[in-house]
Amino acid sequence: MKKNKAMALTYEIKKHQHSFMLCFFFILSHFCLQFKPVLAQSSPVFACDTATNPSLKNYAFCDVSLDVSARVNDVVKRLTLDEKISMLVNTAGSVSRLGIPKYEWWSEALHGVSYTGPGVKFNNVVPHATSFPQPILTSASFNETLFETIGKVVSTEGRAMYNVGQAGLTYWSPNVNIYRDPRWGRGQETAGEDPTLNSKYGVAYVKGLQQRDDGKKDMLKVASCCKHYTAYDVDNWKGIERYNFNAKVLVSCMPFSWIPTA
Ligand SMILES: *[C@@H]1O[C@H](CO)[C@@H](O)[C@H](O)[C@H]1NC(C)=O
Repeated sequence: MKKNKAMALTYEIKKHQHSFMLCFFFILSHFCLQFKPVLAQSSPVFACDTATNPSLKNYAFCDVSLDVSARVNDVVKRLTLDEKISMLVNTAGSVSRLGIPKYEWWSEALHGVSYTGPGVKFNNVVPHATSFPQPILTSASFNETLFETIGKVVSTEGRAMYNVGQAGLTYWSPNVNIYRDPRWGRGQETAGEDPTLNSKYGVAYVKGLQQRDDGKKDMLKVASCCKHYTAYDVDNWKGIERYNFNAKVLVSCMPFSWIPTA
């Protein structure tokens, strides 16, 4: 009787082997997708995680009662040359002996935390972030309070996503290039063609990203990096790019176009 049952079961399994395999695959992929961001993090996840690793308390750079420069000096002194070199790229290496996790410096938040930066990942824990209109539309309001308020919402969401391992704390935003020529193709990222409005937009958005609610000035909510470098123009237009020729920038153009000031 038992044998018959076992045989029947084997038959059933064989008959439905495909469905079983498929089901197994789905369950597996579900778990993989669900846990992938966590698995993708090397251990440790956060620097100076003294709760998990109490020995880190011995390092001055983990002592939050010291000021920032003392902590920075301490950590820089401890790093070897090779470790420092591994940190010269946006995908910075980890230094597990000091409890320092690997870090992706490149996150993007031009008008909301965005997956265009490799430091940001959406999954079922945080599937979306708020997407505000492109900066060219926001700047058309000429409302500096609005620019800063948007930055503030974006940095709150960025912080929350960092806390669950889905985003970085360093954002390559805003874009403060002047919209000079539509052929560039990225004009929507900018606050438009007016240098004064651009600078007001840049200042307000950076404040919104960086300023903390508790008013502490020596700490940032998230770090903002204005782009792109002075005299940046076109990414790549029919084989022409900035890196292949000597673009002579007039000194008189610098304040008006390349490094606008308020
Ligand atoms: C400017 O933006 C702020 C913040 O969103 C808003 O409260 C205010 O009403 C806006 N001002 C005008 C004139 O629309």
